[in-house]
Amino acid sequence: MHRFSIAVVLLVVALPFAASAQSIAEKAQICAACHGDDGVPPRQSFPVPVIWGQQLGYLFFQLCDFKSGARKNEQMTPIVQGLERKDLMALAQYFSAKPWPDLQPPRVHVAVQAQRANASVACASCHQEEFKGEGMLPRLAGQNDAYLRKTMTDFRTGARGNNPGMTDLMRTMSDNDIAALASLLGGM
Ligand code: HEC
Ligand code: HEC
Repeated sequence: MHRFSIAVVLLVVALPFAASAQSIAEKAQICAACHGDDGVPPRQSFPVPVIWGQQLGYLFFQLCDFKSGARKNEQMTPIVQGLERKDLMALAQYFSAKPWPDLQPPRVHVAVQAQRANASVACASCHQEEFKGEGMLPRLAGQNDAYLRKTMTDFRTGARGNNPGMTDLMRTMSDNDIAALASLLGGM
């Protein structure tokens, strides 16, 4: 085959992939406004979680839960309404492949209370060694501590109703336990 026609064939084959890759990167631009250009959520009036480097399965199912209404949030619900299910998987892949950012949390003195609460329910038995998560189990280590505190409280009150197991667990915790766990995990 002529060298020129090989180039044309390659171009025709590669273009649709390039176009769809670009559109996911474009769609991901909307997310950067809250979740950060570099994975570090800029300061907002509401706590925003890190999604860069989060577990793929976890990201995908959270996006599905926001879309179905199983998980509700003023900021996220309208965002996912405009996205199709295949976009949700592509976005989950896009963000899970990024490196987890360093939020540079202040070094906190780990409260005895956090260690006790942690040990009593063995969070790491599900959230995996060093709280890095796996599959549908989210990474907690180095997460925004204000977000951790909010979402654990939301599980407890039922405002976040997409995981009854986590809700039962958080009902056994005091506000102080939750605050201490959030600083412990955020500081990892
Ligand atoms: C207007 C701000 C805003 C935008 C834009 C936004 N998010 Fe979010 N996102 C949030 C907030 C706030 C939360 C935490 C919700 C809560 O507290 O339950 C969140 C939570 C999430 C979660 C759950 C993370 C976890 O740890 O449970 C995922 C996944 C997510 N967003 C993905 C995305 C994607 C993908 C986009 C772009 C398509 C996006 N977000 C755009 C504000 C935003
Ligand atoms: C039996 C397994 C299990 C145990 C034990 C467990 N978790 Fe979870 N946790 C989960 C699952 C599964 C999810 C994902 C829930 C979902 O899909 O919405 C989760 C979600 C979370 C989230 C939300 C993360 C995010 O990004 O929004 C936090 C925070 C959390 N767990 C903290 C803890 C803490 C702290 C402990 C120990 C006190 C703990 N978990 C123990 C299974 C567990």
